Amino acid sequence: MTKNRLNQIEKHLSPMASTNSLFQEIPLAPPDVIFNLTATYKADTFAQKVNLGVGAYRDDGGKPWVLPVVKKAEQAIVNDLSLDHEYLPILGLAPFREASIRLILGSDSSAIKEARVTAAQTISGTGANHLGALFLSRFYLKGVPVYVSNPTWANHKPIFNNVGFETRDYAYFNPKNNGLDIDGLLADLKAAPENSIILLHACAHNPTGVDPTKDQWKAIADVIESKKHFPFFDCAYQGFASGDLDRDAWAVRYFVERGFELLVCQSYAKNFGLYGQRAGCLTFVLKNADAAARVSSQLAKLQRAEISNPPAHGARIVNKVLNDPDLYAEWTENLKTMSGRIGNMRKALYDKLIQHKTPGTWEHIINQIGMFSFTGLKASQVKVLKEKYHIYLTDNGRISMAGLSTSNVEYFADAVNYVVRNVA
Ligand SMILES: Cc1ncc(COP(=O)(O)O)c(C=O)c1O
Repeated sequence: MTKNRLNQIEKHLSPMASTNSLFQEIPLAPPDVIFNLTATYKADTFAQKVNLGVGAYRDDGGKPWVLPVVKKAEQAIVNDLSLDHEYLPILGLAPFREASIRLILGSDSSAIKEARVTAAQTISGTGANHLGALFLSRFYLKGVPVYVSNPTWANHKPIFNNVGFETRDYAYFNPKNNGLDIDGLLADLKAAPENSIILLHACAHNPTGVDPTKDQWKAIADVIESKKHFPFFDCAYQGFASGDLDRDAWAVRYFVERGFELLVCQSYAKNFGLYGQRAGCLTFVLKNADAAARVSSQLAKLQRAEISNPPAHGARIVNKVLNDPDLYAEWTENLKTMSGRIGNMRKALYDKLIQHKTPGTWEHIINQIGMFSFTGLKASQVKVLKEKYHIYLTDNGRISMAGLSTSNVEYFADAVNYVVRNVA
């Protein structure tokens, strides 16, 4: 019997008699590339296998690292008998939000002094991006596109598309030198319609590891100002990128100093290692306190319908560390441990490739910053790395530096040397 005929018969049956679901015809979505890569890696039984796909910090033994300062803060929270499991306020834990604002803008920020900032605690960085996008879809100019770097974090476009925005690319990565295509970037921002939303990675650009220099940021700000674009900062790696919290916040603070209205998304996944706790914050910097109060009221209304109230545990840990001078000092040391290990792996990989005289230039490995590096390896070479060496990375040649360690960096460098020489 044909499918059509079956459908005709089924129409005359009661819904309960049918074994077909209402959702029988919806397309099967492909699995998430990164999570799928990790699943394939886990299923591989080869002893020397390497996972360079995962976007989470690993220690030199390849294990997740609970920051010592996080352990301390968590213990204090568990021992605090005055705490309960009541709901947090809709916009989250107030001292956490205030400390998050100070962390990203700097405690001497004029915007803070003038009370023209407001923040909402969010479901980590993803939730901050979502709430920011949702807010703009309701209260910013209608019909404007959102410009994202080419390439960008795989979740950016879906997040904006899900709330109805059209997304477009601006030039970013230059494969010729594995660096920034600043001319292409500026030209694209100039050509964008006025008042466009421009998504900017505050530091440690994901997936390329390529950040603009201070002068390049100034040129970007000039174009954004002249075209009246709206800067939407995503800051997922403050302190994790360079080991210096102020340095990693430089671009955001520079834009604030210049007088832009903007928003910034913060994630505490990487810099606190609180991946699964979903602690994040969305901060708006506005022209005046009245606008801040209005934005805050609407953020609360949106958040209520989305999640009612954000989760407490991760935010309590971050709050304790950010508001305790001793724990804060210890945190800055923990950040240096993570960024330092990643820096060492960049250097070790670079040195090995130079030692091997691997064809090509490899300076970008040490010049790029943060968790990721765009190696310049081609999809055909990535395939051989996977099949011959059991090394897992995304097809675009992005590697997570956190997946390298003193025990596997040589193996990886040897494999790269092989594929660069032998695979076109
Ligand atoms: C650029 C960027 N933004 C946001 C996030 C958000 O991550 P999370 O929701 O885990 O905080 C990430 C994580 O990989 C990221 O790389």
